[in-house]
Amino acid sequence: MVSAVILESQLKEIKKIVKKNIDVNIDHFETNFLSRRIERRMRIMGLKSSSKYVSFLDEDPLESLELNASLSINVTEFFRNREVWDVFQQKIIPKIIKLSNNYEKIRIWSAGCATGNEPYSLAMGLSNALKTKEKQFVIIATDMNPTSIEIAKTGKYESEVLKNIPNSLMSKFLEKIDDDLYKFNDGLKKFIHFQVGDVDSFNINQVDVIVCRNLLIYYSNDAKDLLFKKFHKTLKDGGFLVLGMAERIPSLMEKFFESVELRQKIYQKVSAESIIA
Ligand SMILES: C[S@@+](CC[C@H](N)C(=O)[O-])C[C@H]1O[C@@H](n2cnc3c(N)ncnc32)[C@H](O)[C@@H]1O
Repeated sequence: MVSAVILESQLKEIKKIVKKNIDVNIDHFETNFLSRRIERRMRIMGLKSSSKYVSFLDEDPLESLELNASLSINVTEFFRNREVWDVFQQKIIPKIIKLSNNYEKIRIWSAGCATGNEPYSLAMGLSNALKTKEKQFVIIATDMNPTSIEIAKTGKYESEVLKNIPNSLMSKFLEKIDDDLYKFNDGLKKFIHFQVGDVDSFNINQVDVIVCRNLLIYYSNDAKDLLFKKFHKTLKDGGFLVLGMAERIPSLMEKFFESVELRQKIYQKVSAESIIA
């Protein structure tokens, strides 16, 4: 039994049906989290038994979409955990500039970017830091939730959501378009490429920084190990990885990442050669 109502065999069946119906892999989610979300969908749909839910899921492809959407917890904020952004701005950006080749753009991957607050925060910080230099950058921002990516692409946010952005950045990067509504200007938006994508299967390489915050908390341990192997491969040698405050490198992968800012969960890739040497 994986929960009071859902059997392990049913959980397997549910994963198979979602893959078949909408071609989405929900295998990486931690079992308890997945079971709680399924139970919530059962309550919403008024289904009293898990076997009824499995049949319903199989017959109605829309339910696979609903279940998948309910797995995407998209809580986010601009400059979430302020101290992380202060350290990133003051200590990490100068290191990234040093790391990068003069002729290439700095490449940043915001993995699990939700409604875009994280990549816009990154873009404001980098744009400010690089203003006097000839250096260019690009942020590739991905999330598995298509609705979140649509919101992010508009670049429009209500003033309540923008409350963490300092006035100096507000006046530089945002335009008021209605009483309570602002929009990031095109000058900033051009640095970010939004794309729907599952972090496990999205392919990108030679990245200077991966920011993957508050996504791994829902991952099973096995799926986490695989993802950190992928992050290691995706980063340039010496590239940086920024995790959420409650997240850490799995013990199996610790030798591949050195902690550079312990409290703020910022790590640097150790190259595979120096591990073998
Ligand atoms: C809690 S939000 C965090 C957003 C942002 N990184 C932050 O820290 O404010 C987690 C996001 O990760 C996304 N997510 C979860 N699993 C994912 C996966 N396998 N691939 C891509 N995105 C995923 C969810 O859709 C959600 O938008």
